[in-house]
Amino acid sequence: MTGSHLKVLLTGIAGFIGSTLSERLLESGYEIIGLDSFTPYYSKEQKLSNLQRSLRYKDCEFIEGDLLEVDLAVLLGRVDAVLHLAAQPGVRPSWSQFNVYVQNNILATKRLLDEAAKVGIQKFVFASSSSVYGDAESYPTIEGVSPKPVSPYGVTKDTCEKLCHVYHKTYSIPVAMLRFFTVYGPRQRPDMAFHNFIESMLAGKRITIYGDGNQMRDFTYVGDIVEGIVSALETDLEEEALNLGSGRPVRLMDVIKILQTQTASKSEIVYAEKQKGDATKTFADIRKAETLLDFHPDTGLNEGLAAQIAWHRERLRRPQG
Ligand code: NAD
Ligand code: UGA
Repeated sequence: MTGSHLKVLLTGIAGFIGSTLSERLLESGYEIIGLDSFTPYYSKEQKLSNLQRSLRYKDCEFIEGDLLEVDLAVLLGRVDAVLHLAAQPGVRPSWSQFNVYVQNNILATKRLLDEAAKVGIQKFVFASSSSVYGDAESYPTIEGVSPKPVSPYGVTKDTCEKLCHVYHKTYSIPVAMLRFFTVYGPRQRPDMAFHNFIESMLAGKRITIYGDGNQMRDFTYVGDIVEGIVSALETDLEEEALNLGSGRPVRLMDVIKILQTQTASKSEIVYAEKQKGDATKTFADIRKAETLLDFHPDTGLNEGLAAQIAWHRERLRRPQG
């Protein structure tokens, strides 16, 4: 599949990554049907604000609906490909609200795959996660290692990947399972670390670090992730799991130092217990995505954080809903 004039179903279009992806696709001439149910994980106001720019395009049709309820046969009959980003994300709450993760991740993905198989969809791109690796057996982590999630959230993403595999084997649906590594940038979800840190720093409030701050993450800029997703849509692939990470892991504490400089923050730092299910380190081996997708995540941390801080400054100027 290449180029524009394709029609895609984008699930989770009102979310952090989905809304950024939507704009990139619309600018390139794609037609989009975007689906989102505005789950209550964070505010509908933020999601509506994420959607605003996409809705200005005549080629963007938005449907408010739940993947577990909408008539997917009708929707899938109208598109060439599926970009499946809708999910219940977040590692830490997945211990206590597992039913929501099972519904919005496992059951929703299964329902979508059932209908995708019936219409013979040309491409199914699934938003997977570095959390399938858990504390990975080697670094940088290649896609071929055995998944060993350490959180219930990671278990649901691993299960979704296995469902994609089963539907590929049985119905020959071409599937790309993209393992995103801790994504940051404008519109980042409010439960995520940088969102919390930046808003607290700008307000002079204290920030809380879970653990000692030495955990390492392969933080990846949302613009780079979006380029990887578009490339996966446009590249002929039968069945592939691919890491989309920056390949440049950093310690959380080192990011905080950059944020302190960029925001001129004097916020107090407090330490809380390491959270259950938090991997100690993520580090993507991205050679496969470089080769197959021409993926080059070039956005440096200083540049990416500056863009995110600018977004928060703008957001905090607006009245909060
Ligand atoms: P997000 O919560 O901002 O976006 C997900 C969207 O899906 C939300 O707007 C939500 O309302 C919608 N949704 C959830 N369940 C739905 C359902 N049943 N029907 C219709 N809509 C539904 O999350 P995000 O950070 O943009 O993540 C997007 C995808 O990428 C998710 O699948 C997530 O698991 C995955 N991912 C994210 C990261 C990250 O660092 N943000 C890393 C790895 C993987
Ligand atoms: C992120 C996303 O939230 C998941 O949806 C995604 O699947 C995952 O990346 C992934 O890469 O697969 P996480 O790495 O936990 O998960 O991202 P953050 O919420 O930004 O947390 C990063 C680190 O900061 C974690 O160690 C976390 O414990 C820590 N943290 C977070 C704090 O110290 N303080 C906070 O206030 C928030």
